[in-house]
Amino acid sequence: MRVIIRKTYEEISKEAANLVKSRIEKKPDLVLGLATGSTPLGLYKELIRMNKENLISFKRVKTFNLDEYYGLSGDHPQSYRYFMNTNLFDHIDIDKSNTMVPDGTAEDWEEFCRYYENQIKKAGGIDLQVLGIGSDGHIAFNEPGSSLSSRTRLVALDAQTIEDNSRFFQDKSQVPRFALSMGVGTILEAKEIILVANGKNKAYAIAQAIEGPVTSLISASALQMHQRVTFFLDEQAASELKRVNYYKFVEEAEKKIGKEIF
Ligand code: PGA
Repeated sequence: MRVIIRKTYEEISKEAANLVKSRIEKKPDLVLGLATGSTPLGLYKELIRMNKENLISFKRVKTFNLDEYYGLSGDHPQSYRYFMNTNLFDHIDIDKSNTMVPDGTAEDWEEFCRYYENQIKKAGGIDLQVLGIGSDGHIAFNEPGSSLSSRTRLVALDAQTIEDNSRFFQDKSQVPRFALSMGVGTILEAKEIILVANGKNKAYAIAQAIEGPVTSLISASALQMHQRVTFFLDEQAASELKRVNYYKFVEEAEKKIGKEIF
Protein backbone atom coordinates (compact mmCIF):
# COMPACT_ATOMS: atom_id res chain seq x y z
CA MET A 1 0.00 0.00 0.00
CA ARG A 2 1.17 3.52 -0.75
CA VAL A 3 0.29 6.16 1.82
CA ILE A 4 0.71 9.75 0.63
CA ILE A 5 0.28 12.41 3.32
CA ARG A 6 0.06 16.14 2.64
CA LYS A 7 -0.81 19.16 4.76
CA THR A 8 -4.01 20.17 3.03
CA TYR A 9 -7.06 18.80 1.27
CA GLU A 10 -6.15 20.83 -1.84
CA GLU A 11 -2.77 19.14 -2.05
CA ILE A 12 -4.16 15.59 -1.78
CA SER A 13 -6.88 16.40 -4.30
CA LYS A 14 -4.21 17.52 -6.77
CA GLU A 15 -2.01 14.49 -6.12
CA ALA A 16 -4.97 12.14 -6.60
CA ALA A 17 -5.95 13.96 -9.82
CA ASN A 18 -2.39 13.61 -11.12
CA LEU A 19 -2.57 9.86 -10.56
CA VAL A 20 -5.89 9.64 -12.45
CA LYS A 21 -4.37 11.74 -15.26
CA SER A 22 -1.33 9.47 -15.52
CA ARG A 23 -3.57 6.38 -15.80
CA ILE A 24 -5.73 7.98 -18.52
CA GLU A 25 -2.57 8.95 -20.40
CA LYS A 26 -1.49 5.31 -20.32
CA LYS A 27 -4.94 3.98 -21.25
CA PRO A 28 -7.22 6.57 -22.91
CA ASP A 29 -10.17 4.13 -22.70
CA LEU A 30 -9.71 3.70 -18.96
CA VAL A 31 -12.59 2.16 -16.99
CA LEU A 32 -12.84 4.47 -14.01
CA GLY A 33 -14.74 3.69 -10.82
CA LEU A 34 -16.10 6.83 -9.14
CA ALA A 35 -17.34 7.85 -5.71
CA THR A 36 -19.62 10.57 -4.37
CA GLY A 37 -19.58 12.50 -1.08
CA SER A 38 -17.67 15.64 -0.12
CA THR A 39 -14.24 14.03 -0.34
CA PRO A 40 -13.83 13.59 -4.12
CA LEU A 41 -15.08 17.12 -4.91
CA GLY A 42 -11.55 18.56 -4.86
CA LEU A 43 -10.32 15.76 -7.11
CA TYR A 44 -13.23 16.32 -9.54
CA LYS A 45 -12.57 20.07 -9.59
CA GLU A 46 -9.00 19.36 -10.56
CA LEU A 47 -10.00 16.85 -13.27
CA ILE A 48 -12.39 19.45 -14.70
CA ARG A 49 -9.59 22.01 -14.79
CA MET A 50 -7.22 19.57 -16.51
CA ASN A 51 -9.92 18.72 -19.05
CA LYS A 52 -10.67 22.39 -19.79
CA GLU A 53 -6.96 23.03 -20.26
CA ASN A 54 -6.79 20.08 -22.69
CA LEU A 55 -4.40 18.18 -20.46
CA ILE A 56 -6.64 15.09 -20.38
CA SER A 57 -9.62 13.82 -22.32
CA PHE A 58 -12.48 11.64 -21.09
CA LYS A 59 -13.81 10.99 -24.61
CA ARG A 60 -13.02 7.29 -24.45
CA VAL A 61 -13.28 6.85 -20.67
CA LYS A 62 -16.07 4.73 -19.20
CA THR A 63 -17.18 5.22 -15.59
CA PHE A 64 -18.99 3.14 -12.98
CA ASN A 65 -20.18 4.71 -9.75
CA LEU A 66 -20.02 2.80 -6.51
CA ASP A 67 -23.53 3.33 -5.25
CA GLU A 68 -26.88 5.10 -5.31
CA TYR A 69 -29.60 5.74 -2.76
CA TYR A 70 -32.42 3.28 -3.24
CA GLY A 71 -35.67 5.06 -4.03
CA LEU A 72 -34.16 8.22 -5.53
CA SER A 73 -34.35 8.80 -9.27
CA GLY A 74 -31.47 10.39 -11.15
CA ASP A 75 -33.11 13.81 -11.28
CA HIS A 76 -33.47 14.00 -7.47
CA PRO A 77 -30.97 16.64 -6.28
CA GLN A 78 -29.65 14.29 -3.58
CA SER A 79 -29.25 11.31 -5.92
CA TYR A 80 -25.75 10.27 -6.76
CA ARG A 81 -26.51 10.43 -10.51
CA TYR A 82 -27.43 14.09 -10.07
CA PHE A 83 -24.30 14.65 -7.98
CA MET A 84 -22.08 13.12 -10.65
CA ASN A 85 -23.68 15.10 -13.46
CA THR A 86 -23.44 18.42 -11.69
CA ASN A 87 -20.02 17.94 -10.08
CA LEU A 88 -18.18 16.22 -12.92
CA PHE A 89 -19.87 14.83 -16.04
CA ASP A 90 -21.53 18.11 -17.14
CA HIS A 91 -18.14 19.84 -17.13
CA ILE A 92 -15.90 17.37 -18.99
CA ASP A 93 -15.82 15.88 -22.49
CA ILE A 94 -17.19 12.48 -21.41
CA ASP A 95 -19.95 10.76 -23.39
CA LYS A 96 -22.80 10.51 -20.83
CA SER A 97 -23.79 7.12 -22.25
CA ASN A 98 -20.43 5.88 -20.96
CA THR A 99 -21.26 6.90 -17.38
CA MET A 100 -22.94 4.27 -15.23
CA VAL A 101 -24.53 4.92 -11.85
CA PRO A 102 -26.72 2.26 -10.18
CA ASP A 103 -30.42 2.86 -10.87
CA GLY A 104 -32.05 3.77 -7.55
CA THR A 105 -35.49 3.22 -9.07
CA ALA A 106 -34.92 -0.36 -10.27
CA GLU A 107 -37.92 -2.31 -8.96
CA ASP A 108 -36.22 -5.66 -9.33
CA TRP A 109 -33.06 -4.63 -7.57
CA GLU A 110 -31.60 -8.15 -7.55
CA GLU A 111 -31.86 -8.32 -11.31
CA PHE A 112 -30.42 -4.81 -11.59
CA CYS A 113 -27.43 -5.64 -9.37
CA ARG A 114 -26.63 -8.68 -11.52
CA TYR A 115 -26.88 -6.48 -14.60
CA TYR A 116 -24.55 -3.87 -13.07
CA GLU A 117 -21.91 -6.46 -12.23
CA ASN A 118 -22.21 -7.81 -15.78
CA GLN A 119 -21.76 -4.35 -17.25
CA ILE A 120 -18.52 -3.98 -15.29
CA LYS A 121 -17.33 -7.35 -16.57
CA LYS A 122 -18.28 -6.52 -20.15
CA ALA A 123 -16.28 -3.30 -19.93
CA GLY A 124 -13.26 -5.43 -19.02
CA GLY A 125 -13.36 -4.66 -15.29
CA ILE A 126 -12.56 -1.44 -13.47
CA ASP A 127 -9.02 -0.20 -14.12
CA LEU A 128 -8.93 2.44 -11.41
CA GLN A 129 -11.41 2.83 -8.56
CA VAL A 130 -11.70 6.08 -6.62
CA LEU A 131 -12.89 5.70 -3.01
CA GLY A 132 -13.74 7.85 -0.02
CA ILE A 133 -14.16 6.37 3.45
CA GLY A 134 -16.99 6.72 5.95
CA SER A 135 -16.28 7.73 9.53
CA ASP A 136 -17.26 4.12 10.42
CA GLY A 137 -14.68 2.75 7.97
CA HIS A 138 -17.08 1.88 5.17
CA ILE A 139 -16.19 1.98 1.48
CA ALA A 140 -19.11 2.57 -0.89
CA PHE A 141 -22.10 1.69 1.31
CA ASN A 142 -20.49 -1.44 2.73
CA GLU A 143 -21.45 -0.83 6.31
CA PRO A 144 -19.67 -2.54 9.24
CA GLY A 145 -20.37 -6.26 9.02
CA SER A 146 -20.57 -6.38 5.21
CA SER A 147 -19.02 -9.55 3.86
CA LEU A 148 -15.56 -8.91 2.50
CA SER A 149 -16.59 -10.86 -0.60
CA SER A 150 -19.93 -9.07 -1.04
CA ARG A 151 -21.15 -8.10 -4.52
CA THR A 152 -23.39 -5.29 -5.78
CA ARG A 153 -26.59 -5.50 -3.74
CA LEU A 154 -29.21 -3.70 -1.68
CA VAL A 155 -27.81 -2.53 1.66
CA ALA A 156 -29.46 -1.00 4.73
CA LEU A 157 -27.66 2.16 5.83
CA ASP A 158 -26.08 2.28 9.27
CA ALA A 159 -27.37 4.85 11.77
CA GLN A 160 -23.93 6.55 11.66
CA THR A 161 -24.10 6.93 7.87
CA ILE A 162 -27.65 8.31 8.05
CA GLU A 163 -26.39 10.81 10.65
CA ASP A 164 -23.29 11.73 8.57
CA ASN A 165 -25.29 12.15 5.35
CA SER A 166 -28.19 14.04 6.89
CA ARG A 167 -26.21 17.26 6.27
CA PHE A 168 -27.16 16.99 2.59
CA PHE A 169 -30.89 16.68 3.32
CA GLN A 170 -33.41 19.03 4.92
CA ASP A 171 -33.64 16.71 7.89
CA LYS A 172 -32.57 13.24 8.94
CA SER A 173 -35.96 11.69 8.21
CA GLN A 174 -35.41 12.37 4.50
CA VAL A 175 -32.21 10.35 4.22
CA PRO A 176 -33.03 7.11 2.37
CA ARG A 177 -32.61 3.99 4.51
CA PHE A 178 -31.35 1.77 1.70
CA ALA A 179 -28.88 1.95 -1.14
CA LEU A 180 -27.62 -0.11 -4.05
CA SER A 181 -23.90 -0.56 -3.58
CA MET A 182 -20.99 -2.37 -5.12
CA GLY A 183 -19.74 -4.97 -2.66
CA VAL A 184 -16.32 -5.15 -1.05
CA GLY A 185 -15.59 -8.10 -3.35
CA THR A 186 -16.59 -6.03 -6.38
CA ILE A 187 -14.29 -3.19 -5.31
CA LEU A 188 -11.35 -5.52 -4.66
CA GLU A 189 -11.55 -6.71 -8.28
CA ALA A 190 -10.58 -3.24 -9.55
CA LYS A 191 -7.06 -3.40 -10.94
CA GLU A 192 -6.00 -0.35 -8.97
CA ILE A 193 -7.60 1.64 -6.15
CA ILE A 194 -7.10 5.11 -4.69
CA LEU A 195 -8.71 6.24 -1.46
CA VAL A 196 -8.86 9.92 -0.51
CA ALA A 197 -9.57 11.05 3.05
CA ASN A 198 -9.37 14.37 4.85
CA GLY A 199 -10.29 15.75 8.23
CA LYS A 200 -10.09 14.65 11.82
CA ASN A 201 -13.35 12.70 11.72
CA LYS A 202 -11.71 10.21 9.33
CA ALA A 203 -8.58 9.66 11.46
CA TYR A 204 -9.90 6.64 13.36
CA ALA A 205 -11.28 4.91 10.26
CA ILE A 206 -8.02 5.53 8.37
CA ALA A 207 -5.84 4.18 11.18
CA GLN A 208 -8.02 1.07 11.39
CA ALA A 209 -8.11 0.61 7.61
CA ILE A 210 -4.34 0.87 7.12
CA GLU A 211 -2.86 -0.41 10.36
CA GLY A 212 -5.66 -2.35 12.03
CA PRO A 213 -6.66 -5.96 11.48
CA VAL A 214 -8.57 -6.96 8.36
CA THR A 215 -12.16 -7.07 9.55
CA SER A 216 -15.63 -6.71 8.08
CA LEU A 217 -16.26 -4.18 10.86
CA ILE A 218 -14.03 -1.74 8.94
CA SER A 219 -14.71 -2.59 5.32
CA ALA A 220 -11.84 -0.37 4.13
CA SER A 221 -9.42 -2.71 5.93
CA ALA A 222 -10.07 -5.20 3.11
CA LEU A 223 -7.90 -2.94 0.94
CA GLN A 224 -4.93 -4.51 2.75
CA MET A 225 -5.65 -7.56 0.58
CA HIS A 226 -5.22 -5.57 -2.66
CA GLN A 227 -1.96 -5.24 -4.57
CA ARG A 228 -2.25 -1.68 -5.87
CA VAL A 229 -3.78 0.78 -3.44
CA THR A 230 -2.76 4.40 -2.81
CA PHE A 231 -4.16 6.38 0.11
CA PHE A 232 -4.13 10.18 -0.22
CA LEU A 233 -4.50 11.70 3.25
CA ASP A 234 -4.33 15.15 4.71
CA GLU A 235 -2.47 15.48 8.01
CA GLN A 236 -5.66 15.38 10.06
CA ALA A 237 -6.91 12.16 8.50
CA ALA A 238 -3.42 10.69 8.99
CA SER A 239 -3.15 11.86 12.60
CA GLU A 240 -3.82 8.47 14.24
CA LEU A 241 -1.41 6.49 12.02
CA LYS A 242 1.63 5.07 13.79
CA ARG A 243 3.96 4.45 10.86
CA VAL A 244 3.98 7.87 9.21
CA ASN A 245 7.79 7.99 9.15
CA TYR A 246 7.91 4.78 7.15
CA TYR A 247 5.34 6.05 4.62
CA LYS A 248 7.43 9.19 4.16
CA PHE A 249 10.57 7.12 3.77
CA VAL A 250 8.91 5.03 1.04
CA GLU A 251 7.85 8.20 -0.78
CA GLU A 252 11.42 9.45 -0.73
CA ALA A 253 12.56 6.08 -2.07
CA GLU A 254 9.99 6.33 -4.87
CA LYS A 255 11.42 9.67 -5.89
CA LYS A 256 14.92 8.20 -5.99
CA ILE A 257 14.01 5.28 -8.25
CA GLY A 258 11.33 7.16 -10.20
CA LYS A 259 8.73 4.42 -9.67
CA GLU A 260 5.74 3.83 -7.43
CA ILE A 261 6.35 1.32 -4.63
CA PHE A 262 3.20 -0.48 -3.49
P1 PGA B 1 -17.71 11.98 2.58
O1 PGA B 1 -18.29 10.49 2.55
O2 PGA B 1 -16.74 12.06 1.45
O3 PGA B 1 -18.91 12.86 2.35
O4 PGA B 1 -17.07 12.18 3.89
C1 PGA B 1 -17.39 9.43 2.42
C2 PGA B 1 -18.12 8.10 2.47
O5 PGA B 1 -19.12 7.98 3.22
O6 PGA B 1 -17.69 7.17 1.78
